[in-house]
Amino acid sequence: MADTHQLGDLGVNGMRLRESLEEMAGIGATSGGGVQRLALSDEDRRARDLLVDWLEELELEVTVDAMGNIFGRRAGCEDDLAPVMSGSHLDSQPRGGRFDGALGVLGMLEVMRTLRDHQVETRRPVVIVDWTNEEGSRFSPAMVASGVWAGALDLQWAYDRSDIDGKRLGEELERIGYRGDAPCKNFPVHAYYEYHIEQGPHLEREGKVIGAPQGIVCLQWYDVYLKGEANQVGPTPMEGRHDALCAAAEMILEVEALPRKMGGDLVATVGEIQNQPNSRNIIPGEVHFTVDIRSWEDDLVRRAWGVLERELLALAERRGCPVEIEETWSVGRSSFDPKLVQRVLGTADALDHPNLKMVSGAGHDASYVNQVCPSAMIFVPSIGGRSHVEVEQTRWQDCQAGANVLLHCVLESATEGRASASRSSNSRERDRR
Ligand code: GLV
Ligand code: MN
Ligand code: MN
Repeated sequence: MADTHQLGDLGVNGMRLRESLEEMAGIGATSGGGVQRLALSDEDRRARDLLVDWLEELELEVTVDAMGNIFGRRAGCEDDLAPVMSGSHLDSQPRGGRFDGALGVLGMLEVMRTLRDHQVETRRPVVIVDWTNEEGSRFSPAMVASGVWAGALDLQWAYDRSDIDGKRLGEELERIGYRGDAPCKNFPVHAYYEYHIEQGPHLEREGKVIGAPQGIVCLQWYDVYLKGEANQVGPTPMEGRHDALCAAAEMILEVEALPRKMGGDLVATVGEIQNQPNSRNIIPGEVHFTVDIRSWEDDLVRRAWGVLERELLALAERRGCPVEIEETWSVGRSSFDPKLVQRVLGTADALDHPNLKMVSGAGHDASYVNQVCPSAMIFVPSIGGRSHVEVEQTRWQDCQAGANVLLHCVLESATEGRASASRSSNSRERDRR
């Protein structure tokens, strides 16, 4: 069998991809045109059930692991070789968009359907994956199930993560029927591709159709818990108050000021806040808020946190509001496999799609997967650079273009024999999962 794949005129069915995306977007559809499919909710279960039906129609070997990750495997001619894998996630943000994650899962589904339609036999097996709880907005942190799969996070720790109502991730997984029997443990993968919307403005601004990130930024998450002194708002004089929400307000502005102080590509955000008891006529007694800091430079993030932590402690002292700070999550920058990144760019060129090498500011499961096997991503433009919101949109022709790049990257990798394997070529190459 040849070690290179000829592009030919094989292509995905763009209309079928659109129909699948629209059908999936019907699950958890919101009034503003987006979706709400929080991880392990009933909507997430319905999305998974639909995906599994589609995988079974293709006669793929379906496996669900202990974190609820769903895999669909298509046999290769040399079936003991490590597979080529691709996918993303079906969970969403609250009132989120219909493309984030779904495009990567259903784009790969369309690749699988195209291989079936044309009876394409691949040398290596090919696997589609739907990762559990990529978003991290119901159960923090994000990418938790690919993190366990990659061996970076502990399974029991992940099961014990709880949502705002105290429901545990492990129990919710069980409740929706997706705590699978297969161990959540990485197996040899020859190449992993994740197809996704860009979620930022660069591709659109530059007039490009395909982006190939050279990697994903470093992400750090913190949880800040402030204690104030609750009291009646009327009789309590302004002097001597310990208002936890006012302390939080000052702190939040410090978070916003941090990137200006530190320079570089740093971004810092407070996205979630809870105020207790949240009554208009009680001085706030307790506040919890989150901090998200990101940069391509791991060291810049570490130094920025050092500066911010000092500011937060000083503010808490000045306002007489004791503070507790937890580092909830930290994932270092992930630099993708240069050969696979080049393959994405080269394939886009060969298909005449203007393209750009870039950096991903958003987190993706590819960040953890890349720790254990060669990985790369394929981005398509987000209209107006909007994402994690109901108006998130990508042009249908761009969805099709990205899926075609994915198809040919998968075929190229699936054609490679043992000799051309890169980082994945290890002694475990023959261990089938
Ligand atoms: C994942 O969606 C992120 O926070 O970037
Ligand atoms: Mn995503
Ligand atoms: Mn997202």
